[in-house]
Amino acid sequence: MAAATLVAVELLAGEGVRLRPWAPGDEGALAREANHREVWRNLKDRFPHPYGPVDAVVWIAMAGAIEPSPHLCIEVDGAVVGGIGWDRGQDVFARTGEVGYWLGPSHWGKGVATRALVAFTAHVLESTDVVRLEAGVFAWNAASARVLEKAGYHLESRQRSAVCKDGQVTDRLLYVRLR
Ligand SMILES: CC(C)(COP(=O)(O)OP(=O)(O)OC[C@H]1O[C@@H](n2cnc3c(N)ncnc32)[C@H](O)[C@@H]1OP(=O)(O)O)[C@@H](O)C(=O)NCCC(=O)NCCS
Repeated sequence: MAAATLVAVELLAGEGVRLRPWAPGDEGALAREANHREVWRNLKDRFPHPYGPVDAVVWIAMAGAIEPSPHLCIEVDGAVVGGIGWDRGQDVFARTGEVGYWLGPSHWGKGVATRALVAFTAHVLESTDVVRLEAGVFAWNAASARVLEKAGYHLESRQRSAVCKDGQVTDRLLYVRLR
């Protein structure tokens, strides 16, 4: 059933991985997991670095102000380890969504992002009218490209020199999952 917006839910992704809305009380864990250069280096510059307590307060207030929130916290065994979310496109791109996700580095390499993205993608496609989900990966980020492939996205294009991150120009790999 295609509704216009994502319903606020908790999603069980297996192996103790759970997605749920951000909530007051998550600020400390959020700042601790997010405040790593290797996380920031793979995300848009709107993701703060350093990531301090005020950034966490602002994010959780913002996420909580949108109902239902398109931004969810990733938990493993009840502990906050990262985040996942999507933004709807504007204007004629309104039925395209852009997904994004990140984990604190101590949680990398355990299949957590793949589990989260599989569950989140299925939920967005089931609960909204979006027909296309995209993710733009910086060319050096092989782990994220692999996560997207494992979650059923395909490489649609390589946008050459589209990104300038951390003072370095690189390509953007556009991964797509169609409904
Ligand atoms: C990208 C990120 C989310 C991956 O999370 P994760 O939980 O470690 O991912 P998973 O364990 O589910 O899968 C990682 C896959 O990448 C592979 N991988 C890791 N590093 C790699 C590398 N340098 N080259 C090739 N493959 C690599 C792993 O082997 C694994 O694939 P496999 O299961 O086939 O062996 C995490 O590294 C992260 O948060 N990075 C910073 C933020 C970010 O990049 N966000 C995405 C922006 S597009």
